[in-house]
Amino acid sequence: MTFTRTLLITGGMGFIGSNLVRVLRRERPGWRLINLDALTYAGHTVTLDDLRDDPGHVFVRADITDPDALRHVFDTFQPDGVFHLAAESHVDRSIDAPLAFVRTNVEGTVHLLQQARQAWGDRRDVRFVHVSTDEVFGDLGPDDPPFSEDTPYHPQSPYAASKAAADHMARAWAHTFALPVVITSCTNNYGPAQLPEKLLPVVITRALRQEPVPVYGQGLNVRDWLFVEDHALALLAAFERGQPGRTYGIGGEREVRNIDLVHATLDAVDQHLHRPPGHSRPLVRFVTDRPGHDRRYAMNIDRARRELGWTPSTTLEDGLQRTVAWYLHHTAWIDAVTSPEHRDFQTRWYQHRDAPPQDAP
Ligand code: NAD
Ligand code: DAU
Repeated sequence: MTFTRTLLITGGMGFIGSNLVRVLRRERPGWRLINLDALTYAGHTVTLDDLRDDPGHVFVRADITDPDALRHVFDTFQPDGVFHLAAESHVDRSIDAPLAFVRTNVEGTVHLLQQARQAWGDRRDVRFVHVSTDEVFGDLGPDDPPFSEDTPYHPQSPYAASKAAADHMARAWAHTFALPVVITSCTNNYGPAQLPEKLLPVVITRALRQEPVPVYGQGLNVRDWLFVEDHALALLAAFERGQPGRTYGIGGEREVRNIDLVHATLDAVDQHLHRPPGHSRPLVRFVTDRPGHDRRYAMNIDRARRELGWTPSTTLEDGLQRTVAWYLHHTAWIDAVTSPEHRDFQTRWYQHRDAPPQDAP
């Protein structure tokens, strides 16, 4: 089979990366995708098991902090573009063990930028899409306008600081070496195949098992939620229409308080399982807050609309139904990624969740 282009996706066995692989196979079937992933606790080949024999999807186990491995991948596959998603991505883990975030998110990104630069030389028909987050801007007060691409950086967690540092590196390579980098800053994603350490899958998997659902603090923090397929389509638009050196804010324009999202998710699970309305709400436990917990994130997406021709298309209501249905139909996947080894590992990381639970109001 002849492919028109070869794209390197880092972190393609993780949540957003695996959804991106699926979206690209569907939207650009003539592209060959090289999925480079170290398979940390967050990456699982089972997530893309159905694409194992797909000639358009090649999996390479490699670490982005290993320059020799990266050089080998660039030499072998000669990619025409990079979607860089590999990262340590969980704020709670960054509070307990920040150095892994510096190593992968900062050093790993620099190794990848260097390899791309060396492999591509003066080529300008290539793109390096650096996938970042709205957390680099800090947090918003209740009446502040959403972040924009021009908001000064003010990261507040070790995770956010490591992503901010990586963004600065990506911009430096664009400016100094004219590497055609496009940066995206996205809000909270949800959807199929998100590891049950992030809010939505924690709630769904615990509701399935009728286990307590931990809500940090009073559940009043606000996040802006985007269905993961919409993010994948935004990344494709950024690759094809993004201007080198430019940043694009991506988001769902759908701000919700955590407690309201938790209740809506519990209700959706109950509805799917034909349980009585409100059945699972008493599972909520308000636990000790995340240290330095950012209050509110939201992103202005006018530039992405105008310049990329992208807009979110899935409503939170539809996306939540699709997400809950996916988890109910993929209990084997949940079991695989929450095996005992994995659970022990998680328990060791989440110190601050061990506070005595309080009753839901
Ligand atoms: P994830 O934790 O689900 O997946 C990360 C993937 O990267 C895993 O497959 C893991 O094995 C791989 N990986 C980690 N370290 C690696 C290394 N050193 N070398 C190679 N592979 C490695 O993360 P996600 O939620 O899919 O996020 C993907 C990217 O999108 C990250 O860069 C994250 O900062 C960014 N982002 C995430 C969100 C969100 O809501 N999840 C929002 C905005 C931006
Ligand atoms: O804004 C984009 C960011 O969104 C991404 O860059 C990160 O990679 C991604 O993990 C996410 O960060 P958050 O910290 O917002 O996501 P998380 O799912 O961990 O938490 C969402 C909110 O829910 C947050 O306010 C903390 C709270 N929470 C989280 C968990 C896991 C709970 O109340 N209980 C929980 O068990």
